[in-house]
Amino acid sequence: MSEEITKSPKQSAAETRHIVMPDHTNHYGTLFGGTLMSWIDLIAVMVAQRHCGREAVTASVDKLNFLEPISLGDHVILKASANYAGRSSLEIGVQVSKENPYTGVVTRATTAYLTFVALDENKRPCPIPKIKPESDVEIRRYENAILRQEANRNLIKKIKDNGKV
Ligand SMILES: CC(C)(COP(=O)(O)OP(=O)(O)OC[C@H]1O[C@@H](n2cnc3c(N)ncnc32)[C@H](O)[C@@H]1OP(=O)(O)O)[C@@H](O)C(=O)NCCC(=O)NCCS
Repeated sequence: MSEEITKSPKQSAAETRHIVMPDHTNHYGTLFGGTLMSWIDLIAVMVAQRHCGREAVTASVDKLNFLEPISLGDHVILKASANYAGRSSLEIGVQVSKENPYTGVVTRATTAYLTFVALDENKRPCPIPKIKPESDVEIRRYENAILRQEANRNLIKKIKDNGKV
């Protein structure tokens, strides 16, 4: 019997940094949410590609919380890692912080969860390595991802049962 392939979240985690320039801002002079969403999608797909070892597409943005506005000139730090893998789908969590580059004060600004699906040569969903959480934080994220999946399934069932879609 072949052994199941597993990877720890550390093996595919990614971190990146941007500086908020004038063309990234909205009419309030803070970072435009759509720009931040594209940065979130970009770092998350890099994690998905590294975990899956193949092409992966964004299937859903499951949750996106804009906690704090981010100002012109702030540094934006994005950290992303894989929380949970199904057969072909992968939940990725992204934490966004803003840093005042002059004071060094770092504040959590946004959190997001996205689901990616790995595709084979025929663009069909295909199996991916399972997640092997190791640290306490990784275990908590893994368990919470399962709770989110169950909640999503229950919600979809309730909406279908309601018969008004
Ligand atoms: C995502 C996509 C490949 C799923 O294809 P599908 O034929 O519906 O897939 P299946 O029903 O066989 O499900 C495959 C997996 O995807 C998951 N999935 C499908 N649609 C999903 C959605 N909207 N949200 C979250 N997960 C989803 C399923 O739960 C399943 O997970 P599992 O294998 O871990 O159990 C397809 O909907 C697609 O190509 N969407 C467009 C993607 C895209 O263009 N993204 C933007 C640019 S990257």
